[in-house]
Amino acid sequence: MIDDPWTPLRLASGAVAQNRFVLAPMTTDASDPGGVVTPEELAYLRRRAMSGFGMALSSCAYVHDDGRSWYGIGAAGPEHDASLASVAQALKAGGGLGVLQIYDGGRISRPAMVGGGRMRAPSAIPSARPGAETPRAMDETEIEALIAAFGAATARAIAAGFDGVELHGANHYTLHQFSSPRANRREDGWGGDRDRRLRFPLAVARAAREAAGPGRIVGYRITPFEPEPDGYKLDDALALVDRLAQTGMDYIHVSLDNFRLQQPQREDRSYLVPSAPTGSDGRSPIAAIRDVVAGRCAVIACGGVRTVDDARDALAAGGDLVAAARAPLVDPDWLAKLRDRAEGDITTGLPQDRDAIAERCAIPPLMVDYLLGRPGWIPREGA
Ligand SMILES: Cc1cc2nc3c(=O)[nH]c(=O)nc-3n(C[C@H](O)[C@H](O)[C@H](O)COP(=O)(O)O)c2cc1C
Repeated sequence: MIDDPWTPLRLASGAVAQNRFVLAPMTTDASDPGGVVTPEELAYLRRRAMSGFGMALSSCAYVHDDGRSWYGIGAAGPEHDASLASVAQALKAGGGLGVLQIYDGGRISRPAMVGGGRMRAPSAIPSARPGAETPRAMDETEIEALIAAFGAATARAIAAGFDGVELHGANHYTLHQFSSPRANRREDGWGGDRDRRLRFPLAVARAAREAAGPGRIVGYRITPFEPEPDGYKLDDALALVDRLAQTGMDYIHVSLDNFRLQQPQREDRSYLVPSAPTGSDGRSPIAAIRDVVAGRCAVIACGGVRTVDDARDALAAGGDLVAAARAPLVDPDWLAKLRDRAEGDITTGLPQDRDAIAERCAIPPLMVDYLLGRPGWIPREGA
């Protein structure tokens, strides 16, 4: 087991990360309405990538117009190609690997964005978010089309200069919804028992692996268990992970709000109520996933990493790589300060003043509004 986060890592496809630090995916909600990246977003990404992450992940990019949850970047058609190329360039500006995260929103798409009647999901069951609308159930043709859309977005990413893609199978998006007995109540070949619920995520993984081609990265982000009653359990996630490793994934990215508390994101996105880790029966999901993949691919630990000691602990918990989101969001020079042993200089909270957040933290103004709209999520100065 490696405990020095500055050591390089060679992934299964052959790509090499120069160190174990990963810039975690962060949606900005600040792209233009057509899914094209803005200059402010590029500046925000480049500034963080320049500090030398081994791998930098983009904000999540939609693969299909009917599954948009954010005013974020798209990877859904040729209208996005130039935008994707500039995102790839920004993410690779610090010499690290650049990976595009791709998603579909399903029942957590934003109704105002996808239009009446187009919000679709595995089953016609609303999400646990307050005021959620009921989606319609996808038919088989739509399911096949969505698998193809993930493949096409992967091909687009590679052509744009990314080193690979990460499939967003976590945080209650469509890939997660198909895996979940809460969200997937289908009675055809795409739902029912666990094997049938896993059929869609595995088909997407195969499509992405094929579209990426040899030497390119395909990773999968997973919520390791659902904190909600009747959700899937760690053992269900482990069954998926085992088969993803067989499908040639380069890594499994374990999405937790805090890796030490084993705390996954709740579907209602309440950041003020901690999730009780009931679905893992007290086991560490990161260690359990590491044991199942058994060296076939890497494991990324994420959640609550702020210091080099945190990173070492995340590696000791079973990660091969360690991702951080809020720390480099708040302080764009976070990683450079860790490397320079200047931890005491790291800014740990967003300023109270809205304009100061945009200016001092190099965050697009529309993203600032989105961050401030969710109290308790991002630490603030003087709080
Ligand atoms: C502003 C913001 C946007 C996020 N957007 C995404 C996203 O697009 N895709 C994703 O998988 N996770 C997203 N996350 C979750 C983070 O990647 C990460 O899992 C979470 O913040 C816990 O890590 P941290 O404690 O280092 O912040 C987002 C987090 C933040 C703070």
